[in-house]
Amino acid sequence: MTLADRDEELRELAEAEIRKNQGSVEADPYRLTYHHMPPTGLMNDPNGWIQWNGTYHLFYQWLPFHTGHGAKFWGHRTSEDLIHWTEQTPALTPSEWFDKDGAFSGSAVVADDQLHLFYTGNLDGDTGPEEEYQCAAVSVDGINFKKKGVVIERPEGYTSHFRDPKVWHHEGNWYMIVGAQTMDKQGQVLLYQSQDLENWEFIGPAAGSFRGPLKAFGYMWECPDLFPLNGRDVLIVSPQGLEPDGMDYANTYQSGFFTGTLDYDTGSFDHGAFRELDRGFEFYAPQTMEDEQGRRLLIGWMGVPDQEEEAHPTTANHWIHALTLPRELTWKDGRLMQSPAEELQAMRGPVLLHSSITIENDQKAVRGVEGRSIELNLEFEKLGDQFALEFYQYASLSYRKGVLTLSRPRLDEHSKTEFRRVRLEQPLNSLRIFADTSSLEIFVNGGEEVFTSRIFPQPEEEHILFTSLGESTFSIEKWNLSGWTLEQG
Ligand code: FRU
Repeated sequence: MTLADRDEELRELAEAEIRKNQGSVEADPYRLTYHHMPPTGLMNDPNGWIQWNGTYHLFYQWLPFHTGHGAKFWGHRTSEDLIHWTEQTPALTPSEWFDKDGAFSGSAVVADDQLHLFYTGNLDGDTGPEEEYQCAAVSVDGINFKKKGVVIERPEGYTSHFRDPKVWHHEGNWYMIVGAQTMDKQGQVLLYQSQDLENWEFIGPAAGSFRGPLKAFGYMWECPDLFPLNGRDVLIVSPQGLEPDGMDYANTYQSGFFTGTLDYDTGSFDHGAFRELDRGFEFYAPQTMEDEQGRRLLIGWMGVPDQEEEAHPTTANHWIHALTLPRELTWKDGRLMQSPAEELQAMRGPVLLHSSITIENDQKAVRGVEGRSIELNLEFEKLGDQFALEFYQYASLSYRKGVLTLSRPRLDEHSKTEFRRVRLEQPLNSLRIFADTSSLEIFVNGGEEVFTSRIFPQPEEEHILFTSLGESTFSIEKWNLSGWTLEQG
C-alpha cells in the first residue's frame, strides 16, 4: 500500500466512525453547545492555532476510533468570528513511518503565502524504536496539507520524550521551542533557530527543571509556548510530575507560566516563579497566538491526561473531552489577566438584570438565574463572612477569608482532590461565569484567576443557589447563550 493510500484509508475509517456514532453523540445531554468537542472519539490539545487572511484556524488532537489516547490525527476547524465554525477535512493523519503512532501536538505559522504546520511524529516503540521527531507540513489553500517529513531529530542527552514544537518569528528569524526530557528525567524546553523553516539549528535548553531557580520541577515539560506580552516574555508550559504544594498543583498535571526575558543569542530564558494559569480541575496544554487585531488569544484543553475514560459519562455516547473558550491574555498591574474573547457576546440573548440583591444568613435562588447554557456576571458591593454559589446540586464555588474554592465530586481515583483553591490578591469583586451543559468556566476579578472544569450534574437540573453567611449584596446580569454553529466544510 502506498502512503497516499494509507492516508486515504485512515480518513475513510474516521468518517465511517463519525457516521456510526453521530446519532448517539448528538443525542448526548452532555453535548456542549458552545465549546469544541470531537465529532466522535477523543479530543485533546488545541494545535496550530492561528489567524490567516482573516480566518481563524484551530486544529486539535483527535483520536476518532475510541475514547482513549493513541495514534492521533489533527482535526481542523475554521471560523471568521470565533462563533460560526466549519469542520474541515482532518489536516494530518498518522500515515507515514515518522508519525504512524500519532501526529502529536504542534503549531502553525504563515510564510510565503503558505500555512506551515510543525508537529511531532510519534513512534510508540511497540513495533520498532520509541522515538519522537519534529515534522512539517504545508498548505497553499489552508485546507489540504502536504507533509514535508522530519525537520528535527532529537538531540543527544535527551530521551524520546521530545515533542510539541511551537514556532514564531522574531527580528528576521524563526524560532521553535520544543518540550523535552533529559536522560536523568528532568523536564526542559529546547530552543531552535531557522532562517527558512527547513534547516533548524539547536541553540540550547531555554528553561527547565533544575535550571535557574528551579529544583526538581517535573520530569517532562509538555506543550511549551513562548511569546512577548507587554514588554516581557511569557513561557507557558505543562510540566508533568509536580507534587501538590499547599493550594497549588492539585491536579494530576498542571499548566502554568513563567514571565521573564529570553536571550535570543544564548537561548537562555531568565524567569521568575511558576504560576498556574487555571485553578479548575480540567485545564491542560493551552496554546496561544497573536491574531490580526494584535490580541494574544489562548485556547486550552478542557481535560487532563490520565483521567479514566469511564469517569466521563460521555464515553457511553462515544466521545470525550473538549476545549476551553478562547481567552484574551493581557497584562495589568503586574499580573497576567485572562478574559473571554469579546466575540462570545454575540451568543447572548436579552439580559436579565438584578441590580441589587441582598442575602443575609440564607440560601436562595434568584428569579430567572438558572439554566445550563448561560453566562452570569456578578458584581459585589458587600460580602459577608462566607459567600457561595451552588451549581445544579453538583459543584460549588465559595469564598471565605480571601480564599476561593471550587468543589466538585471526584471523577476517578486519579483525581487528587475534590477541592481546587486559590487565595486572591484582592478581595472578591466580580465573577463572570460561563456554564455549558457539562462545563464551567469562572473568571474571577476581571480574569486574575480562572477556574475551568467539566461538570456532570443531572441533565435536567438547572438550579443555581446563592448562600451568604452574614450579609452580601451584589448585582447579577444573566444571559441565555444561543450556542455556536459547526457546519461541515
Ligand atoms: C499533551 C500531550 C502532548 C502530545 C499530545 C498527544 O496533552 O501529551 O505532549 O503531543 O498530548 O496527543
